Amino acid sequence: MNLFGLKQLADSSPLLNEIAAVYCQMPTDWGARDVPSGCVERVRRSIRRSIRAETGVVYACIAGDDVLTGFVWAVCSRSRAHVKGLWVRADKRRSGMGSHLLQAAEKWARAKGATDITAHVHYLNAVMLLVAFKLDYVPGFVDIGKPLD
Ligand SMILES: CC(C)(COP(=O)(O)OP(=O)(O)OC[C@H]1O[C@@H](n2cnc3c(N)ncnc32)[C@H](O)[C@@H]1OP(=O)(O)O)[C@@H](O)C(=O)NCCC(=O)NCCS
Repeated sequence: MNLFGLKQLADSSPLLNEIAAVYCQMPTDWGARDVPSGCVERVRRSIRRSIRAETGVVYACIAGDDVLTGFVWAVCSRSRAHVKGLWVRADKRRSGMGSHLLQAAEKWARAKGATDITAHVHYLNAVMLLVAFKLDYVPGFVDIGKPLD
């Protein structure tokens, strides 16, 4: 068994449903909100498409009987890779799993010919920023915005 039970998922993996559901619950730019209807199906299709076209990859950490404990979804277009989602189950955090997943995505991106990798992180997500800084990511532009009533 590799470290953390890391596995590269096929586009037919049943775990993609759960991953899409977690992805849709992550806060948006302007704060937490209800999951928009159809989000899970849309994201699941988008993940499947990227895996099938080999423009994307999902690594999952799996415990016991196919229990999802973490995942990373990354995509690559020409020389630029982008981390679309990174998540570790709350009771498994702070054991190096998030960094391990991120580094697996980096390795995949390098093999695809990418020369850099980005992620979209909320400025208040201090934990993710700490994880990223430890792996030598540096902040770039900060998006600003507000809801229009
Ligand atoms: C962000 C996330 C994936 C990190 O996963 P993780 O497995 O806990 O991260 P790691 O164990 O690899 O942490 C790496 C380093 O980051 C820092 N770090 C991580 N969590 C920290 C915390 N709660 N407080 C302080 N530093 C922290 C530490 O330096 C840590 O190394 P150390 O434990 O050797 O000191 C996880 O917290 C998560 O799923 N958060 C919710 C989803 C999310 O915000 N995803 C990112 C969206 S862009």
